[in-house]
Amino acid sequence: MKIDIVTIFPEIASAPLAASIIGRAVNSGLVEIHYHDLRQWAVGRYRQVDDAPYGGGPGMVMKPEPFFAAVEALRTEISHVILMTPQGQPFRQCKAVELAAREHLILLCGHYEGVDHRVVEALVDEEISIGDYVLTNGTIAAAVVVDAVVRLLPGVLGDERSAEEESFSPSGIGGLEAPHYTRPPEFSGMGVPEVLLSGNHAAIAAWRKERSIERTRAIRPDLVGED
Ligand code: ADE
Repeated sequence: MKIDIVTIFPEIASAPLAASIIGRAVNSGLVEIHYHDLRQWAVGRYRQVDDAPYGGGPGMVMKPEPFFAAVEALRTEISHVILMTPQGQPFRQCKAVELAAREHLILLCGHYEGVDHRVVEALVDEEISIGDYVLTNGTIAAAVVVDAVVRLLPGVLGDERSAEEESFSPSGIGGLEAPHYTRPPEFSGMGVPEVLLSGNHAAIAAWRKERSIERTRAIRPDLVGED
């Protein structure tokens, strides 16, 4: 898979994706990630990428021309173009699974008040939001999407099951996971549920299922249609 990230802050996107699992995936050639400074496609003495909104209002709007030039330069027949924006569809695990099956993603990152709507109308296949809150820029959101997608690519996670177990339901996360414990069996007066030490795999699976349902109902009733 190839991913192009177009942003005025390439370093914000590259920093979190250079380390750990995603960094290793890049180094071993499982994915190619390219970071592009949108300003290289801006014109004029100041390479301006934003301007005041028509109709008035606070903040600045990102100009269309640099995005059009960027997509023109990067897009091929297999590209899927995404705009990161709080106005997009909520990003879920099932969307990560869908994007992981594509060969080429181009992620456009907004900043300031937003992006000229002609970009959305003419260039973008879909708009994605990583949650109902507003970040200072879409680049952080792009890094989140890339992380969630790349970890699903074959060979990226050491233990292939780790990714498989999450992707059963339409929401992608079938429910919250049961609590996890590791050594020591007693810490600061707190023990570990007996069943996990029993070696009885059927009992452990049943316990995990119950805890998973219990935690999902308490913390994320929306995932089981109970909110
Ligand atoms: N840009 C600013 N906030 C965002 C969000 N929540 N998701 C995606 N892009 C954004």
